[in-house]
Amino acid sequence: MCGIVGIVGREPVAARLVDALRRLEYRGYDSAGVATIHEGKLDRRRAEGKLFNLESKLAGELLPGTIGIAHTRWATHGVPNEENAHPHFVEGVAVVHNGIIENFSELKDELIVDGAVFTSQTDTEVVAHLLAKYTREGLGHREAMLAMLNRVSGAYALVVMFQDDPGTILSARFGPPLAIGHGKGEMFLGSDAIALSPFTNEITYLVDGDCAIITHDRLEVMDYQGRPVTRKSQISQATAFMVDKGNHRHFMEKEIYEQPEIISHALGHYVDFASHTVKATDKAIDFSKLSGLAISACGTAYLAGLVGKYWFERYARLPVEIDVASEFRYRELPLSPTQAALFISQSGETADTLASLRYSKDEGLKIGAIVNVRESTIARESDAIFPILAGPEIGVASTKAFTCQLAVLASLSIAAGRARGTVSEADEKAMVKHLAEMPRIMSRVLNEIQPQIEALSRDLSRFKDVLYLGRGTSYPLAMEGALKLKEISYIHAEGYAAGELKHGPIALIDENMPVIVIAPHDRFFEKTVSNMQEVAARGGKIIFITDEKGAAASKLETLATITLPNVDEIIAPMIFSLPIQLLAYHTAAILGADVDQPRNLAKSVTVE
Ligand code: M6R
Repeated sequence: MCGIVGIVGREPVAARLVDALRRLEYRGYDSAGVATIHEGKLDRRRAEGKLFNLESKLAGELLPGTIGIAHTRWATHGVPNEENAHPHFVEGVAVVHNGIIENFSELKDELIVDGAVFTSQTDTEVVAHLLAKYTREGLGHREAMLAMLNRVSGAYALVVMFQDDPGTILSARFGPPLAIGHGKGEMFLGSDAIALSPFTNEITYLVDGDCAIITHDRLEVMDYQGRPVTRKSQISQATAFMVDKGNHRHFMEKEIYEQPEIISHALGHYVDFASHTVKATDKAIDFSKLSGLAISACGTAYLAGLVGKYWFERYARLPVEIDVASEFRYRELPLSPTQAALFISQSGETADTLASLRYSKDEGLKIGAIVNVRESTIARESDAIFPILAGPEIGVASTKAFTCQLAVLASLSIAAGRARGTVSEADEKAMVKHLAEMPRIMSRVLNEIQPQIEALSRDLSRFKDVLYLGRGTSYPLAMEGALKLKEISYIHAEGYAAGELKHGPIALIDENMPVIVIAPHDRFFEKTVSNMQEVAARGGKIIFITDEKGAAASKLETLATITLPNVDEIIAPMIFSLPIQLLAYHTAAILGADVDQPRNLAKSVTVE
C-alpha cells in the first residue's frame, strides 16, 4: 500500500525523499509525488507510474526546499494518474495519506456546499479541504489538525505541511503504520523504519489515535483532544542493506535462496537442535488447556495457516477453525474463551487480519500472532508473539515468510502435542530431528532443481491456464502454487484438492491446460495418482512434483517430473514449496513481468 516519507531538514530534501521512497517501493504503488516548501511557497512534482518518472521530472525542474513530504500511491479512490497522485494541495496546505477516509463522500458533499472545488477523485483531498477551511475560520495549525481528525473516519496515516510554517510537519495514525525518526538537528517520518534507515536508527512508532508534530529537533505526540501522550523511542535494527538485491536479479529470487539459512535461524528460536526437543513457547497461550484454535489470515499467510490446521489437528488433536480474515471478521463465528486465536501475517498490518484479531479479543480469547514484523500492530495487540524471523521480505510475492510461517506452525503443533500428551517424547525427538535437517535439504534441493525448473518454465510460460492439485498438506500448497504463479506471471491458475477434480475442474482438462500435481509419497499418494490418471486419460499435460519413491512408483507419462528427496511428512510442505516458488519465479521472469512489484498488488494491505 502507499508509502509515506517526510523530512524537516537543514539541507535540500527532494532527492533524499525520493531515495527514501525507493525503499518503500516494495509496498506496491502506481504513482508518486513529492512536495517541499521553499521561500514561503509550496511546490510539488507528481508522476504516474514508477519512481523514475518522478525523478525525470525532478531532473528537469528542480525542487528546492529543506522541508518536504513524499508519497507512493496505491490507487483506491480514483485512477492512478498525476491529478490523483499525492501530495494534494489546497490553499497552502499539503497532504499525503495512506489508507481510506471512509466518510469522504459525505464530507465532500458538505465541503462542496461550502464552495470547495475538488481537483482529484481521491478521498484524501477532503482532508486538505477540511484543513484549509478550519484555517480560514481562524484555527491555528494544531487546532485545525485536531478538528480535522475529529471529523474523518476510516484507516489512515496522514502527513501534513502548512506553507506558512516551513519548520513543522504534522501527522496522525489510525491504522496504517507511521514511524518518526530522530536525527541530529533533523527529524524524519516514514511508513517504516527501513525507509528512514540511512538517516537514523532512533525510531518512535506512533499508535492508533496519535497526532504527532515534528520540528527540526522535537517530537510532540498528543491524542485527538490535544492531550499530551508519551511514546518512547527505540533503536531499530532496520538497515538500508536489507533492501539490497545482492547478486540476484530480483528480491524474490534472493528471498527464495535465503530460505535455508533463514529457516535455520527461525527454527533455532523454537527447537533445541542438541536435545531435539521443542523449546517452551510464549506462556500467554497454554495449549494443554485449549478446547480449540481459531486461525485467520490473508493470502499466503492464510495458506500457511491451512497447513497448520492439518498439523494441529493431527499432532495435538486440537480442532481448528480457519478462515480468510475478510470473512472471519464478519461471519459472527461463535467463539469461546476456552479457545485461543492465532493470526498469521508477514507485515503484521493487514487490515482484515487485524480486525479479526480484535473480534476474537472482544470474544475473550487469548491471542497469538505469528508475524515477521515484531513492532507491527498485530504483534502489539497480541498476548503471545511467535516471530517468524524471516527478515524483511521485499518481493510482493511471499516466499521466505511462507516457509518460516510453516516452520513456526510445525514447531508450535509439536509443542501443543507435547503439552496435550498427544505427541510422545520419541515422536517429538524424531520430528525435531527432521526439522533440524530441513535447512540442509532445502539448500540441496534449490541447487539441484534450478536448471530443470528454468527450462520447464519456458514451456509453462506458453499456457494461459494452469491447474494445481494436491491432497492433505499438499492441498494448501497447490493453492499457494497457483497464487504464486498468477500474482507474478499473470497466468490464470487455480489450486484444488485433488479429490475435487471430478466435481468440476475436470471439465477444463485438455492439452491446453497443464496440471501441476504435488504428491510426495505419503499416505495419500495412491489416491492422487488415480486423479493423475483421470487427467492423463483426457489428454491433460502433467507436471509431477514428487519425491524419489513417488517418481519410482508412478508409471504415468508426464510433461515433466520434478523429483525431490524423500523427506518426512512434517517437513514435506516446506521442501515442496521450493519448486512451486521457483516455477512461478522463472515463468514470470521469462515473460518479462515485474516480478517484485506485480501490477495492482501491494505488500502490506492496510485497507479492507
Ligand atoms: O502481510 P500479510 O502476511 O498479512 O499479507 C497477506 C497477503 O496479503 C499476502 O500473503 C499476499 O497474498 C502475497 N502477495 C502472496 O504472495
